[in-house]
Amino acid sequence: MSIVYLNGDFLPLEEACVSVTDRGFLFGDGVYEVIPAYGGRLFRLPHHLQRLQNSLDGIQLSNPLSEAAWEQLLEELLVRNRDRAGRHNDQSVYLQVTRGTAEKRDHNFPAEIHHTVYAASNPIPEPDPDLARNGVAAVTLDDIRWAWCNIKAITLLPNVLLRQQAGERGAAEAILIRDGQAIEASSSNIFIVQDGIIITPPKSQVMLPGITRDLVLELAEQHGVAYREDNIAEDALHAADEVWITSSTREIVPVTRLDDREVGDGTPGQVWQVMLAHYRQYKDAVRRGEAG
Ligand code: PDD
Repeated sequence: MSIVYLNGDFLPLEEACVSVTDRGFLFGDGVYEVIPAYGGRLFRLPHHLQRLQNSLDGIQLSNPLSEAAWEQLLEELLVRNRDRAGRHNDQSVYLQVTRGTAEKRDHNFPAEIHHTVYAASNPIPEPDPDLARNGVAAVTLDDIRWAWCNIKAITLLPNVLLRQQAGERGAAEAILIRDGQAIEASSSNIFIVQDGIIITPPKSQVMLPGITRDLVLELAEQHGVAYREDNIAEDALHAADEVWITSSTREIVPVTRLDDREVGDGTPGQVWQVMLAHYRQYKDAVRRGEAG
């Protein structure tokens, strides 16, 4: 049975209840994180907690827990869900902090804040071998989200609608275009490869600074793979030799069809293969406790 954390208690998922007056429910007034753990070890925890802090600062909400308390809570959650996590004990932790409940529905912040803190964990399935053989399809769609996409807000309606549209067109992701530039995707960051060089958009207010994205760049630097952070015009996206999407839950996934046309020769690219191998090595080091 899945055990979750809610406001100080660990309890079975079925028993976890949040008030209908919670501002997360009424306004989407909260932020979240998704943190993978490999072999029971949290992946890049300080980076995720820093981004959580940035998101909380972005919505003027105090952090209900210290870094040490977050770490303790999440580690306990992993232990309590160990039985469900398969032989590698790979789990993905979801945590959410909302501005809590208030008696009356009011857009203004309540005078007194009682955060709602929720965390759950799910097993991460083994990577699908079909992805490495065939990649996935993506479509480009207009970025209809707000202007503060660097905040990991639980208010995900545009992302949900965009992903649904992509799914209805047989695609795994929607790559979002804003002012003629490819920014990121509905729940992942984007990379292209052009003439052997990895390119990803620079961080800005209109994209989520992905932890996986940063690690891919770090690994490229470390292993001498050419890369640069640069804007990706829609035309350049369509002309790219390779397109990838990255996220904590998907790692690095090759996009082999974009808007019903093949990307490169329509198979996962060589640079992707190189970077995935580096990424997997890093994950294994996390499992052994030799990397964070
Ligand atoms: N999403 N961009 C968006 C809009 C995202 O929602 C995500 C992650 C990313 C990648 O960030 P990271 O590498 O830190 O996971 C980029 C999570 C996984 C989700 O919403 O489930």
